[in-house]
Amino acid sequence: MKKILITGGAGFIGSHVVRLFVTKYPNYHIFNLDALTYAGNLENIKDIESADNYTFVKGDIKDIPFINSLFAEHQFDGVIHLAAESHVDRSITNPNAFIETNVLGTANLLNAFRDSCNHNFEGKLFYHVSTDEVYGSLGKTGLFTETTPYDPQSPYAASKAASDHFVRAYGNTYKLPFVISNCSNNYGANQFPEKLIPLFINNIKNSKSLPVYGDGQYTRDWLFVEDHATAIDLIFHKGKVTETYNIGGFNEWTNLDLIHLLCKQLDEKLGNIKGTSEKLITFVKDRAGHDRRYAIDATKLNKELGWKPSVTFEEGLSKTIDWYLENEDWLKSVTSGAYKEYYEKMYG
Ligand code: NAD
Ligand code: TYD
Repeated sequence: MKKILITGGAGFIGSHVVRLFVTKYPNYHIFNLDALTYAGNLENIKDIESADNYTFVKGDIKDIPFINSLFAEHQFDGVIHLAAESHVDRSITNPNAFIETNVLGTANLLNAFRDSCNHNFEGKLFYHVSTDEVYGSLGKTGLFTETTPYDPQSPYAASKAASDHFVRAYGNTYKLPFVISNCSNNYGANQFPEKLIPLFINNIKNSKSLPVYGDGQYTRDWLFVEDHATAIDLIFHKGKVTETYNIGGFNEWTNLDLIHLLCKQLDEKLGNIKGTSEKLITFVKDRAGHDRRYAIDATKLNKELGWKPSVTFEEGLSKTIDWYLENEDWLKSVTSGAYKEYYEKMYG
């Protein structure tokens, strides 16, 4: 039985990856390592917690002795590394947390993996999950390809770029087998309501204002989280070692257009009079150093591995809204306590 370590599996994307691997691969034992920060929540994977091929390990990738002993004990065949500080706004207020977890934490995993393999990398793989934000910001045209030079603009993006560089450097220096994927903005069930889509769903539900940064003409390429998970599965099994794959939805939206669609779908689902939610839109001070446009060219992944997104944005958004409306308790539990302080500090 192969032993696979997934880090950050109690978070948004990680929980979908853990579920997919636990259910699809009964011949793998999946270890989910997560520190359960504010963004990690065991409720996200409650449905698979008693599976025979699943073990949760609470631990911090910053804790070197703990990480070393975990790898020495289990001799993992594969690592899929998602644990990270992931929110740009938080990286602006506290960049060091991003350097510590995203850069040092990744180096700790690489060291422990290299040492536990004892230079015999046969059948082993370190899969590093990264973001399109490492490429910086695009003008009105063009797409990020796998060869676009790195140009990170936020502390979050810089920390992810640094971690990508470390992974490649370990591949070159120690011949550690790796793959990297850089994905666009994800949306779907279980996303913490500090990111645009779940934050706005929660605010509309509570008739609170919708804080649009700057002119709202910032553009993102949105991908349904379950499609990201299937891409990770494909790349983990079929991707070429030392290669990078961009993952994206070919699905660009300005923030304002997206918010109008979200308001329309929510009004319909909540039985509101048309236009009710749009009235909550409030333009607020822009994010510092706000990247204007991200857009991914996912041709390589499509051509080489045959991957493509399974849902349109309208379908994925509708499923996402339904999930948040049906999972009131989840939303209530993650927005109590510390979230209130965060919200007050960010939005006043
Ligand atoms: P998330 O913030 O929802 O989840 C991160 C998880 O990592 C949480 O469960 C948290 O408890 C855990 N974690 C954080 N610090 C840790 C530490 N020091 N030790 C162990 N566990 C720790 O993030 P997400 O949106 O699910 O993103 C997952 C990964 O995918 C990240 O590496 C992120 O950079 C990348 N990514 C995210 C997006 C996106 O749109 N969300 C897009 C592309 C790439
Ligand atoms: P976000 O979900 O934080 O993802 P990222 O910064 O990684 O792209 O933000 C998506 C877009 O929405 C981004 O352009 C910032 C904008 N935004 C707002 O306008 N208001 C908000 O309250 C938030 C959280 C984001």
